[in-house]
Amino acid sequence: MEKLATGNSLDLRVWLDKVRALGELTDVLGADWNLELGAISELNAKKAVPPALLFDEITGYAKGFRIVTCSTSSPVRLSTMLNLEIERSHLKLVQAIRGKPRQWQAEAADYDPVPAQTGPIFENVQSGDEVDVYTFPSPLWHEKDGGRYIGTGCMVATRDLDSGWVNVGAYRVMIHDRNHVGLNMIASKHGAIQYDKYMAAGKPFPVVIVLGCDPLGYTISGLEVPFGMCEYNYMGAILKEPLSVVHGELTGLPFPSAAEIVLEGWAYPGDQRNEGPFGEFHGYYSGHAESTPVVTVERIYYRNNPIIMGSAVSKPPHDYSYSKAVLRSAMLSDALQAAGVPDVEATWAHEIGGARMFNVVAIRQRYAGHARQAGHILSQCGVGVYLSRYAIVVDEDIDPSNLHEVMWAVATRTDPDLDIDIIKRGTGSKADPMAVAYQHKGFTSKAVIDACRPFDHLSEFPPVAEASRELQDKTREKWQHIL
Ligand SMILES: Cc1cc2nc3c(=O)[nH]c(=O)nc-3n(C[C@H](O)[C@H](O)[C@H](O)COP(=O)(O)O)c2cc1C
Repeated sequence: MEKLATGNSLDLRVWLDKVRALGELTDVLGADWNLELGAISELNAKKAVPPALLFDEITGYAKGFRIVTCSTSSPVRLSTMLNLEIERSHLKLVQAIRGKPRQWQAEAADYDPVPAQTGPIFENVQSGDEVDVYTFPSPLWHEKDGGRYIGTGCMVATRDLDSGWVNVGAYRVMIHDRNHVGLNMIASKHGAIQYDKYMAAGKPFPVVIVLGCDPLGYTISGLEVPFGMCEYNYMGAILKEPLSVVHGELTGLPFPSAAEIVLEGWAYPGDQRNEGPFGEFHGYYSGHAESTPVVTVERIYYRNNPIIMGSAVSKPPHDYSYSKAVLRSAMLSDALQAAGVPDVEATWAHEIGGARMFNVVAIRQRYAGHARQAGHILSQCGVGVYLSRYAIVVDEDIDPSNLHEVMWAVATRTDPDLDIDIIKRGTGSKADPMAVAYQHKGFTSKAVIDACRPFDHLSEFPPVAEASRELQDKTREKWQHIL
């Protein structure tokens, strides 16, 4: 008899058990969905190493209807999620990821999801008049949000009208009423391109929204996976195992068989309502409420005691700024190497810039112009160009992830006149908080700051006034009770 293939069902509970065993999960009982849960999560994300939070007994909801936040905000959790050895250092994790995105992409085609006959996601089904998205404790995350966001750390799966390609994107989802939600897909995003095709053909757009699963789901759905590639395949390449999926009864769209909650429905031609505002990755409400597609929810599938995956933005560091910083830093290092920049020690896309606007690379200077080469490529390479504002190059003795060290190098190793290059009319964004002051929206100028010691004066440059590495290590060891 033919053996049915099994796969990885992206079971959030398996992942929660793992991180609980690692001491990285904190239970929070009795928080209110109305602002309190959002504020607790926001403040938690500001800790040096924030634990993941699992909320239960949420005001007004039955015990067991839960939300998890801050899922990816530590190197240990992020490395576990990415199927890597457990890593506790930010820069070592970046090193461990280097080269992997290219490899995952190349191998994705080998990991088509495998269909499962059924799965825990079908434990409960709402259809027709029963459909009610208020069944789940969606938070009002912040005071100025346009509504309750049920989808933040979510995956929105849709299908291309022509090719049948299934795209999975992380797009925020706001509740309009018990069976309507609003989708925010920026124009260039793959889901938006697919939506436009259905609207041009006058056809309803099929959608499934996965509101909880292993955080690998929303992290990869939030990554720029190539046009035409299904994110489920990419996740399979990371896990070295295909995903186990089931299909929606109405749309036939696939979702992980152990997903927590799935909304299924259609965005009908002409059906748009105001959605937002909601914070952006850089920590501002840079958009107003805008007309966006409405999904009429016609089925809800959910597990017993379901868990929403929450990942809301705020002034960084925020819920997903750490995972973005790590993944983009690895991709930036790879891009520098691919462009022929030698001796890149480390790169860090700082959370304060939403992992886009303030990026730093440390190099071991080898030749005249090496630092400028690294800075300009950091600012302009494919993965770095969108809304990059500051690209800073430092010497190898500076930790690029440490803002104190970086700004010390900027203060002491640069002459503003000599060491800051300005690129005019670079790639910006409509979501740029500075766009209010720009005549030409979508552009931004960019500064490349060469904060390396001047290459032609290296031997004369004054030595740093600090204890040698050996003396520091010896002293730390002997005086550990104090230091
Ligand atoms: C938690 C989270 C929320 C996001 N919210 C949105 C959003 O509301 N709208 C949007 O266009 N992109 C959003 N993004 C970014 C997209 O997910 C990202 O650009 C992704 O590449 C889109 O998928 P696509 O490349 O298949 O279009 C979000 C990312 C994350 C991680």
